[in-house]
Amino acid sequence: EIIGIKGRQLWDSRGRPTVEAEVVLAGGVIGRAIAPAGASRGAHEAIDLRDGGEAFGGMGVARAVANIVGKVAPALVGRDAADQAAVDAALVALDASPNRGEIGANALVAVSMAVLHAAAAAAGEPVWRWLSGGRPVRIPLPEIQIFGGGAHAGRRTDVQDFMVMAPHAGSFRRALEITDAVYRAAGRLMAAKGAIAGVADEGGWWPNFESNEDALGTLTKAIETAGFRPGEDVFISLDIAANELGDASGYRLALDGHRLSGEAMADLVVGWAKQYPILSIEDPAGQDDFAAMANVTARIGDSVQIIGDDVLVTNAARVEIAAAHGACNAALIKVNQVGTVTEAKAALDAARAKGWGTIVSARSGETEDVTIAHLSVGWDAGQLKVGSFTRSERMAKWNEVLRIEEAMGGDAVFAGASAFAAPVA
Ligand code: PGA
Ligand code: ZN
Repeated sequence: EIIGIKGRQLWDSRGRPTVEAEVVLAGGVIGRAIAPAGASRGAHEAIDLRDGGEAFGGMGVARAVANIVGKVAPALVGRDAADQAAVDAALVALDASPNRGEIGANALVAVSMAVLHAAAAAAGEPVWRWLSGGRPVRIPLPEIQIFGGGAHAGRRTDVQDFMVMAPHAGSFRRALEITDAVYRAAGRLMAAKGAIAGVADEGGWWPNFESNEDALGTLTKAIETAGFRPGEDVFISLDIAANELGDASGYRLALDGHRLSGEAMADLVVGWAKQYPILSIEDPAGQDDFAAMANVTARIGDSVQIIGDDVLVTNAARVEIAAAHGACNAALIKVNQVGTVTEAKAALDAARAKGWGTIVSARSGETEDVTIAHLSVGWDAGQLKVGSFTRSERMAKWNEVLRIEEAMGGDAVFAGASAFAAPVA
């Protein structure tokens, strides 16, 4: 039984204020969670409540914290923390606004995840096992950033994430070792060109490239020089985050100096998939450009994972709409895009019911909170996207999955290529 909920303002990986919730159960068990924050957000996402004004660049969360204390706590005290669905329904009922901006998605997600932690702790189980309910679950295939561009690097490249995946690694531990080698090799290649300029928001190398193709070529070469076969051992995965570039009326590629129609954008992305060892592409078109999304999926979706992020915003209803258009074959799942654990799970279930792949994902603004590592395993999502292979707000998640893999021992099953929708696999 929930007997109290506290909220507090902490700081995220960008040095921005964020919300932590602390749920106390009868008997003294505590559950805590911290809200993440995106930079390339979709218009259909639930929104964070920020204070505005002068302090902290308007990014303060005092109002969201006050909502936890003044509105959320009174509605949840006395409820059973183990009944996540009822708790989340009560949370949703508090905010009648269409985008959760009244209570704030930052307040909702922190409380919803804190309740999850408290319930698992009360049951004496790690969160992943509490969520799995004893059903067999897989260790996710990681999708790991090597270069970070787009809105996470001053728009130095058009493409937001240049990532790698090693579906045949055999274990999560091995997949990280492979990624480490590729990350170092990419750094050496950039240093040799005199193009090292630190790292982007999620810890990937700052993308000092002349073109998107230059970045794709360098990443392919990094896979090779690290000792792996591109397109066999290690594959490229892209998050175009095309929503940041435009919409169906036109996409502006600053780096390449192009202005492209939705159809031309689809042609460009399909061309990249044919030329480079690409296995997965997220958001190749804008959040409402279902035609361009479907164009890409129809042409290469039988061998390439096409992920919806801004187009789906972890919303089960948007999954249905996107599926009706044939817009993608995989769903990115970010709890704070919708607000609560239960709604995020509903979006994941909707995607799975379509036969899609599912990827639990971090945001570009993160913290030491490792809840998503547990969600990816406990929900048997198959894939996990956290950002790069540096910086502790990223490594904390990878390290937590290593602990879970070790705890499973001989029972651990690495999702590997089984993570993809049937045609891709
Ligand atoms: P965001 O980026 O957290 O800034 O939205 C992550 C993504 O687009 O997947
Ligand atoms: Zn994305």
